[in-house]
Order: sequence, then structure tokens, then C-alpha cells
Amino acid sequence: MNHDVCLTCEGVERWLGEDESRVHALRGVSLTLEAGTVHAVVGPSGCGKSTLLYILGLLDQADAGSIAIKAEPVSHLPDDELAQRRNALIGFIFQFHFLLEDFSAQENVMIPMRRLGRLPENGMRDRARELLDAVGLGTKGARPSRHLSGGEQQRVAIARALANDPDVILADEPTGNLDTENSHRAFSLLQGIVAERGKALLLVTHNPQIAGLCDWTHEMEDGRIVNARQRA
Ligand SMILES: Nc1ncnc2c1ncn2[C@@H]1O[C@H](COP(=O)(O)OP(=O)(O)OP(=O)(O)O)[C@@H](O)[C@H]1O
Ligand SMILES: [Mg+2]
Repeated sequence: MNHDVCLTCEGVERWLGEDESRVHALRGVSLTLEAGTVHAVVGPSGCGKSTLLYILGLLDQADAGSIAIKAEPVSHLPDDELAQRRNALIGFIFQFHFLLEDFSAQENVMIPMRRLGRLPENGMRDRARELLDAVGLGTKGARPSRHLSGGEQQRVAIARALANDPDVILADEPTGNLDTENSHRAFSLLQGIVAERGKALLLVTHNPQIAGLCDWTHEMEDGRIVNARQRA
């Protein structure tokens, strides 16, 4: 296994909300994600899991602390630079996939590639086809995503997250709205990609079976990681 560090954060703090409803959502979170490793974040509702993922995914900014992706500090970059890093280095999978439902599976997977603008049209189409093939949807690329099942839509979301070949994949309850069989299938797919392609995966999950399959489990409570354990 390759032990390059893909992402680190140190002492991340985040306040959310206004005035009396202000919440200290993250109270000094540090972690390291190495290439080829799968990490679970677990903890009760409201403990800060999604807030942490959004900050690591450069979708939100920390009030204190630092984040480095591939050894480059990114916390203080201007918005356009952050957006560029996010597009190129991070794949995000949300609990509800947010596919454009009138667009085909293939067009959905091409959206991040269009944003990055590195490939010509044909190159983007070919890559989307390969990614859909890898998630078992090789024959369904032309279908509007609203005509796919929930499990298939989540697999399109996985392919979309991989579109720009990110180093880090962040997933917020990626299997939360799937049945057991489809959750395990989506998880195995991600696990395989991490192992084969040396990516780092951090996923929020309420499913103890899935957390048990991860290399590391980070347990959060009230804005902090209170326990981090490696799989036996
Ligand atoms: N935009 C916001 N404004 C104010 N408070 C917020 C905002 N977003 C989240 N919070 C609060 O910050 C805390 C952490 O929220 P977060 O969404 O990170 O929790 P979570 O661990 O992902 O929970 P769940 O398991 O329910 O998804 C909670 O107390 C939440 O109410
Ligand atoms: Mg959440």
C-alpha cells in the first residue's frame, strides 16, 4: 500500500448560525487521510460530521485551523483557487445524489469534467462511458437519470464523483437512502476504487456494518473526534 498523505486537517474549528443560535459545530478537528485508505466518520446527529466534510471538501471555510491537500495548504486560498482545487482534487458524494434528472447518466457524469475543462467533448464522453461501465451501468448511459432506480442513481453519483480522477473522495452517508444490498454494493465499489487507484475515502455513515469494514473509524461527539480506531 502506498502511504502518501492525500489530505490533512489540523485544529479545524467552525461556528455556524447567528447570535444566540450560534453553534460551535467543530471544536478542533485533526485527521490525516493516506492514499489507499478508507475512513468512516460516525457519531450522533448534530455532532458535526457534515460540517467537517463540507470544510474538507472546500465547500465551506473553517474559522480556525488548517487544511492541506497533497501537502499544499489550501485553507487561505481565494474562492476561485478553492473552486479549482475542489474540481481537480476532490470528489463529493452527497446523501441525496443531486443528479440532474432530465439529463442522461452520461451527461451527469460529464458535468464536473465540463467544469474543469481539460478534455475535449469526445474525451469527456469516453471517460464518462468508462466510469459508468466501472459502476455497472455501461448499458444505461443514455437514460435520463430519473428513469434509473435509487441504487443506480447513487452509482451514477459515484461515477460523477470520480469524473476528474480526484485524490480524495468525501461521501456524506452515500448509502443512507439505499437498501442493504445496494448499500453494500455501493460501498464495495468505492472500497475497490480506493484500493486499486490509491485514493483516500472519508465517508460519514450511520451503518455500523459499513463502518466496521473501513480501515479507520473516527468517532465524533459534540464537534470533536473523541476516538479514532484502526480496524483490527
Ligand atoms: N447553517 C447552519 N446554521 C446554524 N447551525 C447549523 C447550520 N448547519 C448545521 N448547524 C448545526 O451545526 C451542528 C452540526 O451539524 P452537522 O450538519 O454537521 O451535523 P451531522 O453530524 O452531520 O448530523 P446528521 O447526522 O444529522 O447529519 C448541529 O448542531 C447543527 O444544528
Ligand atoms: Mg449530516
